[in-house]
This record gives sequence, structure tokens and C-alpha cells, in this order.
Amino acid sequence: MTNTTSENKEVLLSIKGLCKHFELKSGLLNNKTNYLKAVDNLTLDIYKGECFGLVGESGCGKTTLGKMIAGLYKPTQGEIMFNGVNLGAITRNERRKYARDIQMIFQDPYSSLNPRMTVEEIISEPMVVNKTHHGPEISKRVEYLLECVGLAKQYKTRYPHEFSGGQRQRIGIARALAVSPRLIVCDEAVSALDVSIQAQILNLLDDLKSEFGLTYLFIAHGLAAVKHISDRIGVMYLGSLVEVAPKEAIYDNPMHPYTKSLISAIPIIDPNKRKDRILLKGDLPSPIDPPKGCRFNSRCFVENCQYKQESQILLPNGNHLVACKHVTEGGVVEH
Ligand SMILES: Nc1ncnc2c1ncn2[C@@H]1O[C@H](COP(=O)(O)OP(=O)(O)OP(=O)(O)O)[C@@H](O)[C@H]1O
Ligand SMILES: [Mg+2]
Repeated sequence: MTNTTSENKEVLLSIKGLCKHFELKSGLLNNKTNYLKAVDNLTLDIYKGECFGLVGESGCGKTTLGKMIAGLYKPTQGEIMFNGVNLGAITRNERRKYARDIQMIFQDPYSSLNPRMTVEEIISEPMVVNKTHHGPEISKRVEYLLECVGLAKQYKTRYPHEFSGGQRQRIGIARALAVSPRLIVCDEAVSALDVSIQAQILNLLDDLKSEFGLTYLFIAHGLAAVKHISDRIGVMYLGSLVEVAPKEAIYDNPMHPYTKSLISAIPIIDPNKRKDRILLKGDLPSPIDPPKGCRFNSRCFVENCQYKQESQILLPNGNHLVACKHVTEGGVVEH
């Protein structure tokens, strides 16, 4: 069963009202249980073949969302539909197949690769665990995957410490590709690398996307990092999305006050195009006790907004989805 949108784009991943609330251990004298709302009522569709860039400040819940999608965390509430199948309503055996379909690449390739295993063992592990390939075909596939990610097949006998950061990330990508996934969650996949190496890995990911018909959820801190690779961008704030739009629309016409502040933080070389940076007051509020009503209200610079006390959901506004009723009701956002 597949799901199709009005623009005839096929939805691969559909998330509705997703929450991950971590229970916090209380002290001996305190009986009250607190919850940290890492992801809170998040709704999102990702289309087949696209690269969806997800940005937001540290601690806003990006990795937690990625881990729920990849099946590493169980959602507290909400629904994850993959290719029309509700991942929360299937058996553990069926879930295994979807665990192959959705792979994750992490920020730090060194800590995500087992230092005691050779490259061949690292890349073949998912094939052995998932029983997707057998005997000599495993070794052949390892060589093929190494070539796909731009590494010589002779490297298969080496260990992770014998590689540079960029090469290690290529090994991580080869491992993610081993079981022919359909969706890859790239969690800050290039953030730890040198700028020139970042560009190489981004180009590699872009090439692999067309070659293997992949879909990406590409997570990064800032908008500058997702600019080149993404088709659409989602801006996350305190556990939920505040704006989703095609890449150009986010850069040329940001609508949510938070997105406007992120865009204003991107350095612009042309002095004629420079705009004043919007500095938000305060830090990201605690996800243990988020602001009531609009979750951005404690840092919002819109004066006299009449919706501060109302919780906001994503609403369509042109080709954007914006969680700000002030905007969707036609209000002006000026700094
Ligand atoms: N296993 C856990 N138990 C309790 N709290 C957690 C756990 N994992 C994450 N958190 C909390 O959930 C919130 C979101 O964390 P998460 O790692 O998803 O943020 P992030 O957006 O990926 O941040 P960064 O950009 O720094 O990687 C944070 O407040 C974090 O402390
Ligand atoms: Mg993270």
C-alpha cells in the first residue's frame, strides 16, 4: 500500500503526533516522576527519493527522532508509517525487515565503528545478522561496497584506526548500504569532518542517493550545512517542527520567527545583501518544563502576538507549513 500526496509525490515515511518522553529518575524524597519531552507531537511526511534536511539547536530532539525512525527508540506515543505500514503495529519478526530498510549513519565514525573488527567484518556484520547474503557473496559485496564509497577493496583487511575521519565515514556509509536500505538517517554525518572532506562526503551521499534510489533524512545543527544536499527542509524547535518548506523557500522567504533568526545567522559575503542578525533572547527552554501555549513564546520577538498562549501546529501557508498562527493568519513578522 502506498500513500500519494496531491502533488503526486509518493510518501515513504509518514510520522503523526510522534512523542518520546524520557522518564527522569527522581530523588529519594521526591515521589514525583518528571518527563523530558525530547520529541513532542511531531508530524512529518518524507517523500520517496528526496533528501529532507532537519535542522535545529543542540538538544531540540533531532537524534531522538532519528533513532525512533531507525527503530532504536520506542516512541512514547504517535505513529510511524513506512511505505504504508504502521511500524508500531507489526510483530518483532516483521520489524526486522524494516530495520533493514531504514539505516542510520552517525556523526562520529570512530566511535560507531568497532575498533577490534576489520573493515570486512564491520561491513559484513549487518548482512550476517540479517541473513541477506551468504558465504563468498558476502566478501564480494564488501569489495563492491568499498568501491561504491570510493575506497580500494584492498582496505578490507585493515582496522578503523588506520583510516582518516573522512575514510571512516565512507566505511560507515558502506556498512549502512550493505543491506540495501531505502531510507538512511544521516545524523550529523559530516559535522565532525574537515570542510573540504565534508564536501566530498556530501557529494558521495548525493551520488549514492541516485545510484541506489535512496531517501535521506539529513540531520544537522544549522541551515548552512543542509543547503546543498536537501530538497526540503524542516526546522525543529524544542521537540517539534516549526516550519517545513522546499529548500529555496526556506532560504529566500523564511516565515516562522525562529527560522528567520536561523537564516539571519548564516554569514553572507555580498555586503549589499547583508541583513542584521536576529539575536534571540535566552537559551532553548528546558524540555522538562517547556513553555505553555506556543513553544517558541519565551523567545519570540513578534510584538503583540495574540496566539502566544495557544499551542501551535503546522498549518499550510503557500508552499510552507508553519507552526505560527500569527503568520498563517496573515500577521507581519518584523524584527
Ligand atoms: N536516553 C536518554 N535519556 C534521557 N534523556 C535523553 C536521552 N537521549 C536524549 N535525551 C535528552 O533529549 C533531548 C534531545 O536530545 P537529542 O540528542 O535528541 O538532541 P539533538 O537535537 O540531537 O542534539 P545535538 O544537536 O546536540 O545532537 C536532550 O535534552 C537530551 O538530553
Ligand atoms: Mg544529535
